[in-house]
Amino acid sequence: MLKLIVAVDRNNGIGINNKLPWTNKEDLKEFKRITLGHGIIMGRKTLESIGKALPGRTNYVVTHKNELPYENVILIHDVNAFFESKRASKDVVFVIGGASLYEIALDYVDEMIISEVFGDYSCDTFFPKFNQDSFKLSTEVAYDGFIQKRYVRI
Ligand SMILES: NC(=O)c1ccc[n+]([C@@H]2O[C@H](COP(=O)([O-])OP(=O)(O)OC[C@H]3O[C@@H](n4cnc5c(N)ncnc54)[C@H](OP(=O)(O)O)[C@@H]3O)[C@@H](O)[C@H]2O)c1
Repeated sequence: MLKLIVAVDRNNGIGINNKLPWTNKEDLKEFKRITLGHGIIMGRKTLESIGKALPGRTNYVVTHKNELPYENVILIHDVNAFFESKRASKDVVFVIGGASLYEIALDYVDEMIISEVFGDYSCDTFFPKFNQDSFKLSTEVAYDGFIQKRYVRI
Protein backbone atom coordinates (compact mmCIF):
# COMPACT_ATOMS: atom_id res chain seq x y z
CA MET A 1 0.00 0.00 0.00
CA LEU A 2 1.23 3.45 -0.86
CA LYS A 3 0.73 6.50 1.32
CA LEU A 4 2.08 10.01 1.19
CA ILE A 5 3.21 12.24 4.04
CA VAL A 6 4.00 15.94 3.73
CA ALA A 7 4.08 19.18 5.69
CA VAL A 8 2.85 22.27 3.86
CA ASP A 9 2.48 25.93 4.79
CA ARG A 10 -0.56 28.06 4.00
CA ASN A 11 0.56 28.39 0.36
CA ASN A 12 1.45 24.70 -0.05
CA GLY A 13 5.15 25.54 0.29
CA ILE A 14 7.29 22.58 1.35
CA GLY A 15 10.92 23.62 0.95
CA ILE A 16 13.52 26.28 0.34
CA ASN A 17 17.16 25.86 -0.73
CA ASN A 18 16.70 22.10 -0.36
CA LYS A 19 15.70 22.42 3.30
CA LEU A 20 12.48 22.52 5.27
CA PRO A 21 11.38 26.17 5.63
CA TRP A 22 10.42 25.72 9.31
CA THR A 23 11.33 23.79 12.43
CA ASN A 24 8.50 21.93 14.10
CA LYS A 25 9.66 19.25 16.50
CA GLU A 26 6.20 17.83 17.06
CA ASP A 27 5.62 17.34 13.34
CA LEU A 28 8.99 15.58 13.02
CA LYS A 29 8.00 13.36 15.97
CA GLU A 30 4.72 12.53 14.22
CA PHE A 31 6.60 11.82 10.98
CA LYS A 32 8.80 9.35 12.85
CA ARG A 33 5.90 7.71 14.71
CA ILE A 34 3.90 7.23 11.50
CA THR A 35 6.70 6.02 9.21
CA LEU A 36 8.74 3.86 11.62
CA GLY A 37 8.82 0.20 10.61
CA HIS A 38 7.62 0.90 7.07
CA GLY A 39 9.21 1.70 3.73
CA ILE A 40 9.88 5.30 2.71
CA ILE A 41 10.60 6.55 -0.79
CA MET A 42 12.12 9.94 -1.57
CA GLY A 43 13.76 11.88 -4.36
CA ARG A 44 17.56 12.15 -4.42
CA LYS A 45 17.43 15.83 -3.37
CA THR A 46 15.35 15.02 -0.29
CA LEU A 47 17.89 12.36 0.70
CA GLU A 48 20.63 14.98 0.34
CA SER A 49 18.61 17.37 2.46
CA ILE A 50 18.15 14.76 5.23
CA GLY A 51 21.80 13.72 4.89
CA LYS A 52 21.41 10.01 5.62
CA ALA A 53 19.08 7.05 5.43
CA LEU A 54 16.47 7.22 8.16
CA PRO A 55 16.86 4.36 10.67
CA GLY A 56 14.12 1.82 11.32
CA ARG A 57 12.71 2.17 7.83
CA THR A 58 13.52 0.72 4.39
CA ASN A 59 14.87 3.71 2.47
CA TYR A 60 14.16 3.84 -1.28
CA VAL A 61 15.68 6.72 -3.25
CA VAL A 62 14.63 7.73 -6.75
CA THR A 63 17.48 8.85 -9.00
CA HIS A 64 18.80 8.62 -12.54
CA LYS A 65 22.27 8.00 -11.10
CA ASN A 66 23.80 4.55 -10.77
CA GLU A 67 25.30 5.16 -7.36
CA LEU A 68 24.96 7.57 -4.46
CA PRO A 69 27.37 8.16 -1.55
CA TYR A 70 24.91 6.98 1.12
CA GLU A 71 24.62 3.72 3.01
CA ASN A 72 21.43 1.72 3.51
CA VAL A 73 19.54 3.14 0.55
CA ILE A 74 17.94 1.19 -2.30
CA LEU A 75 18.12 3.05 -5.62
CA ILE A 76 14.97 3.19 -7.75
CA HIS A 77 15.19 4.19 -11.41
CA ASP A 78 11.68 3.39 -12.62
CA VAL A 79 9.46 5.10 -10.09
CA ASN A 80 6.17 4.32 -11.89
CA ALA A 81 6.97 0.60 -11.90
CA PHE A 82 7.88 0.84 -8.21
CA PHE A 83 4.59 2.57 -7.37
CA GLU A 84 2.61 0.04 -9.42
CA SER A 85 4.16 -2.87 -7.54
CA LYS A 86 3.88 -1.32 -4.06
CA ARG A 87 0.31 -0.13 -4.39
CA ALA A 88 -0.73 -3.79 -4.76
CA SER A 89 1.44 -4.96 -1.87
CA LYS A 90 0.44 -5.42 1.78
CA ASP A 91 3.63 -3.64 2.87
CA VAL A 92 3.19 0.05 3.54
CA VAL A 93 5.50 2.50 1.76
CA PHE A 94 5.32 6.23 2.44
CA VAL A 95 6.20 8.76 -0.24
CA ILE A 96 8.09 11.40 1.77
CA GLY A 97 8.93 13.95 -0.98
CA GLY A 98 10.05 16.12 -2.47
CA ALA A 99 7.81 17.90 -4.93
CA SER A 100 8.89 15.87 -7.96
CA LEU A 101 8.00 12.59 -6.19
CA TYR A 102 4.70 13.89 -4.82
CA GLU A 103 3.68 14.95 -8.34
CA ILE A 104 4.04 11.37 -9.63
CA ALA A 105 2.72 9.75 -6.44
CA LEU A 106 -0.65 11.53 -6.49
CA ASP A 107 -1.87 9.08 -9.12
CA TYR A 108 -0.99 6.08 -6.96
CA VAL A 109 -1.38 6.80 -3.24
CA ASP A 110 -4.38 5.52 -1.28
CA GLU A 111 -3.87 7.86 1.63
CA MET A 112 -2.28 11.24 2.31
CA ILE A 113 -1.21 12.61 5.68
CA ILE A 114 -0.83 16.35 5.31
CA SER A 115 0.42 18.56 8.12
CA GLU A 116 -0.81 22.08 7.54
CA VAL A 117 1.79 24.23 9.26
CA PHE A 118 0.46 27.61 10.39
CA GLY A 119 2.00 30.62 8.63
CA ASP A 120 3.52 31.78 5.36
CA TYR A 121 7.13 30.86 4.74
CA SER A 122 9.51 31.79 1.97
CA CYS A 123 9.51 28.65 -0.23
CA ASP A 124 10.87 27.61 -3.63
CA THR A 125 9.24 24.15 -3.70
CA PHE A 126 5.52 23.42 -3.45
CA PHE A 127 3.19 20.47 -2.91
CA PRO A 128 1.27 19.96 -6.18
CA LYS A 129 -2.45 20.64 -6.36
CA PHE A 130 -4.40 17.41 -5.99
CA ASN A 131 -7.82 16.51 -7.34
CA GLN A 132 -10.25 17.19 -4.46
CA ASP A 133 -12.74 14.79 -6.08
CA SER A 134 -10.33 11.88 -5.74
CA PHE A 135 -9.78 12.14 -1.97
CA LYS A 136 -11.96 12.71 1.07
CA LEU A 137 -10.88 14.11 4.41
CA SER A 138 -11.03 11.30 6.97
CA THR A 139 -9.50 12.75 10.17
CA GLU A 140 -8.19 16.06 11.39
CA VAL A 141 -6.05 16.44 14.54
CA ALA A 142 -4.80 19.75 15.97
CA TYR A 143 -1.23 20.00 17.25
CA ASP A 144 0.88 22.89 18.44
CA GLY A 145 1.60 24.87 15.26
CA PHE A 146 -0.09 22.60 12.73
CA ILE A 147 -3.17 20.55 11.86
CA GLN A 148 -2.66 17.00 10.67
CA LYS A 149 -5.22 16.03 8.01
CA ARG A 150 -5.64 12.51 6.73
CA TYR A 151 -7.18 12.05 3.28
CA VAL A 152 -8.23 8.72 1.79
CA ARG A 153 -8.80 7.95 -1.86
CA ILE A 154 -12.49 7.76 -2.73
N1 LIG B 1 7.70 19.76 3.75
C1 LIG B 1 7.86 18.46 3.50
O1 LIG B 1 7.10 17.61 4.00
C2 LIG B 1 8.99 18.01 2.61
C3 LIG B 1 9.21 16.65 2.38
C4 LIG B 1 10.26 16.27 1.53
C5 LIG B 1 11.04 17.23 0.92
N2 LIG B 1 10.79 18.54 1.16
C6 LIG B 1 11.57 19.59 0.49
O2 LIG B 1 11.41 19.43 -0.92
C7 LIG B 1 12.58 19.93 -1.57
C8 LIG B 1 13.12 18.88 -2.53
O3 LIG B 1 12.13 18.57 -3.50
P1 LIG B 1 12.50 18.48 -5.07
O4 LIG B 1 11.24 18.27 -5.82
O5 LIG B 1 13.36 19.64 -5.40
O6 LIG B 1 13.47 17.22 -5.13
P2 LIG B 1 13.21 15.63 -4.84
O7 LIG B 1 11.89 15.23 -5.37
O8 LIG B 1 13.52 15.34 -3.42
O9 LIG B 1 14.41 15.00 -5.70
C9 LIG B 1 14.48 15.24 -7.09
C10 LIG B 1 15.40 14.20 -7.68
O10 LIG B 1 14.77 12.92 -7.64
C11 LIG B 1 15.13 12.17 -8.79
N3 LIG B 1 13.94 11.91 -9.59
C12 LIG B 1 12.75 12.55 -9.55
N4 LIG B 1 11.89 11.99 -10.43
C13 LIG B 1 12.56 10.98 -11.04
C14 LIG B 1 12.22 10.03 -12.04
N5 LIG B 1 10.98 9.99 -12.61
N6 LIG B 1 13.15 9.12 -12.41
C15 LIG B 1 14.39 9.12 -11.84
N7 LIG B 1 14.77 10.01 -10.88
C16 LIG B 1 13.86 10.93 -10.51
C17 LIG B 1 16.14 13.01 -9.56
O11 LIG B 1 17.40 12.66 -9.00
P3 LIG B 1 18.78 12.69 -9.86
O12 LIG B 1 19.03 14.15 -10.14
O13 LIG B 1 19.78 12.09 -8.91
O14 LIG B 1 18.56 11.87 -11.09
C18 LIG B 1 15.73 14.42 -9.15
O15 LIG B 1 16.77 15.36 -9.33
C19 LIG B 1 13.55 20.31 -0.46
O16 LIG B 1 13.44 21.69 -0.17
C20 LIG B 1 13.05 19.50 0.72
O17 LIG B 1 13.41 20.07 1.97
C21 LIG B 1 9.79 18.95 1.98
